[in-house]
Amino acid sequence: FELPILAPSILAADFSKLGEEIEKCNNANIRWIHCDIMDGHFVPNISYGPDIVEAAGRSTDAFLDVHLMIENPDQYIEAFVEAGANHITVHQEACPHLHRTVQNIHSHDITAGIAINPGTSLSTITPILEDIDMVLLMSVNPGFGGQSFIPSTYQRLQQLVQIREQTSTNFVIEVDGGVKPHNIQKVAQAGAEILVAGSAVFKADDVQKRIATLQNKARL
Ligand code: DX5
Ligand code: ZN
Repeated sequence: FELPILAPSILAADFSKLGEEIEKCNNANIRWIHCDIMDGHFVPNISYGPDIVEAAGRSTDAFLDVHLMIENPDQYIEAFVEAGANHITVHQEACPHLHRTVQNIHSHDITAGIAINPGTSLSTITPILEDIDMVLLMSVNPGFGGQSFIPSTYQRLQQLVQIREQTSTNFVIEVDGGVKPHNIQKVAQAGAEILVAGSAVFKADDVQKRIATLQNKARL
C-alpha cells in the first residue's frame, strides 16, 4: 500500500443503506475500510459484530481493517477472520497475554495490530513492537464516534516514530478518533500513516468530495 491511507470507519455510516455508503467509498478509490467492534464491556457502547463485517466485504474489494474494542478478543478472532477481516487490531488494555493474541491473529495469515488508549504509556507496547504490523494510537477514548481529537496525540505520534527508528522495527502507524479536514494534515505530518475517519466522511453532505478533501490534505 502507498501511504498515507484514509480508512473510513463505517461506524458513522447509515446502516439502513450500508452497501450504498460503501459504494461511495469505492467510487472515491478508498483502499481500506475500518470496522469498529464494541462489546459494551471494554468500552461503554455496543456497535456490531462479524455479520456486518461480512456484509461490508460483499460491498467492496477494499482491505478490511478490523478494530476490536472488546474483552477476550482471542475468543472472536476466528469469527472475524471468517467474516473477511484482512487485518485485526486488539487493545493492549484488553490483552494480558499480548504475544499469544498476536500469534493467534498471525496464525490466520493476516496482519496484527495493537491499539493503545490515550492514557496508556507507549512503553507498555515496546516489548511487542518487533512482532506486530501496526500500532493504532487512539486519539479519543474509544467507545463513540464524533468525539474531539486529543492534542497530546501529536507528541505521542512523534515519540512512536522515534521509537520505531531506535528499535529498527517496521510497523505502520494508524490514528483513530476525531480526524477532520482541519487537523488531518497536522496528524499526518506528526507521523500517522493510516488515518481513520468516521463522522468526517459519512456525515458529510457529499461523501466523495469529503474523501477527496481529506486525502489531499493528508498528502504531505
Ligand atoms: C472510536 C472508534 C473510531 C471512531 C472514529 O471508538 O474506534 O474508529 O469511530 O470516529 P470519528 O472519526 O467520528 O471520531
Ligand atoms: Zn476504530
